[in-house]
Amino acid sequence: MGRAFVYVILGGGVASGYAALEFTKRGVSPGELCIISEETVAPYERPALSKGYLLPEAPARLPSFHTCVGANEERLTPKWYKEHGIELVLGTRVKSVDVRRKTLLTAAGETISYKILIIATGARALKLEEFGVSGSDAENVCYLRDLADANRVVAATQSCAGGNAVVIGGGYIGMECAASLVTNKINVTMVFPEAHCMARLFTPKIASYYEDYYQSKGVKFVKGTVLSSFDVDSNGKVTAVNLRDGSQLPADMVVVGIGIRPNTSLFEGQLTLEKGGIKVNGRMQTSNSSVYAVGDVAAFPVKLFGETRRLEHVDSARKSARHAVAAIMQPDKTDDFDYLPFFYSRVFTFSWQFYGDNVGEVVHFGDYSGNTIGAYWINKGHLVGSFLEGGTKDEYEAIARATKLKPAIEDVAELEEKGLAFAVAI
Ligand code: FDA
Ligand code: NAD
Repeated sequence: MGRAFVYVILGGGVASGYAALEFTKRGVSPGELCIISEETVAPYERPALSKGYLLPEAPARLPSFHTCVGANEERLTPKWYKEHGIELVLGTRVKSVDVRRKTLLTAAGETISYKILIIATGARALKLEEFGVSGSDAENVCYLRDLADANRVVAATQSCAGGNAVVIGGGYIGMECAASLVTNKINVTMVFPEAHCMARLFTPKIASYYEDYYQSKGVKFVKGTVLSSFDVDSNGKVTAVNLRDGSQLPADMVVVGIGIRPNTSLFEGQLTLEKGGIKVNGRMQTSNSSVYAVGDVAAFPVKLFGETRRLEHVDSARKSARHAVAAIMQPDKTDDFDYLPFFYSRVFTFSWQFYGDNVGEVVHFGDYSGNTIGAYWINKGHLVGSFLEGGTKDEYEAIARATKLKPAIEDVAELEEKGLAFAVAI
């Protein structure tokens, strides 16, 4: 026995919510669309979990940040799905999919069939065990991917006032959580293997701008090493973190952000994979024409770079989801996805945006002892990437526009001298 739908979205995260909104805008009929999610709540804006959710005062809580709140969109509460005749199957893990038969099997034993499937399974946090370190299950060791994880971080934070937190990983989760923990008056030490924070994106100069501020807030950095083990007390709580360089850090709580893996396992052997994700074309369609993939799990052609990429950012999740639905509902009117990669973060009172690709020669601009800093990346004679901290709305739009145009750069010194004015003038 089972249910049948025209459209099924597998996964109830950011991409799923934006796909649902797009379906309703393009005229889905009640009863045609179903969303299946392992999470027990309707899709929400995941970025809130490392920002507003962790604030000591007036923290953000659902339903305030269900998708697609912000940017004048509707906020999709459970009531919204009901009113639009969209079936939300929550708290339900799909344990197998048969793309030939067009069926999904849930952990509860129900078979759900579809005509068109959108895979929006996102990613899971990498565990320390995958690097040979045990102890992830200790109650004061936290990861941060979903609401349950965020509640764990909040509980650990509340019982750690004035104590010590060790943050493992110098990427997005590490930087955003360290800032939140400091705001909660916790002593923070960050540990990561690279020479500076945010090594996937930041140059050493950009990184030191933020690291200086973090240090002024009391954050300590331990770079170029990784943890080797935890000390655990008789209650199973971690009390200290042992590092490979032989040193030891006392810990009342630990936050781990060491990267993610896309959730592709249900489709291995059934769909073509690339770059760790599910390969799609410019219509977000996988190697099976009835199956689409969007968000963190999708490896899609980025026209601007002429190559396939898998991005792990919310703007790409939102836009790829909308594009897939457009391609499904109005195939003749939908061109190939033409996406300008966009990443952002907000920590303390900082706010930065990045567009494009961080390859090639870097030109920094702005006052690195002031509030507005930036950088351009020039590859093969063209501007391909732009970073800006502390910009206005117009300035962010300007760097996005300039990056999309990929202008030829003949004189790098002139670009450096013009700085932000170069993008603004385009
Ligand atoms: P997402 O992870 O949102 O959703 C996947 C869904 O699929 C989940 O509901 C999951 O339970 C479900 N699922 C998976 N397997 C399943 C199965 N077998 N059965 C049923 N359900 C299943 N980006 C950015 O640009 N700026 C930012 O500030 C931030 N901040 C940020 C903070 C934190 C804490 C995180 C974890 C991430 C960010 N991001 C971000 C990244 C951004 O949130 C991310 O790119 C999007 O959430 C990706 O959206 P998806 O819908 O692809 O996956
Ligand atoms: P990340 O890829 O940004 O950073 C991973 C970090 O882990 C690396 O910088 C490195 O310092 C560290 N690392 C790797 N292996 C390690 C090891 N063995 N021991 C110790 N450290 C190790 O990943 P993340 O910070 O875990 O973020 C997870 C996901 O959430 C990413 O997809 C990210 O894009 C997303 N996210 C995005 C934002 C944003 O865009 N503002 C915010 C939060 C999370």
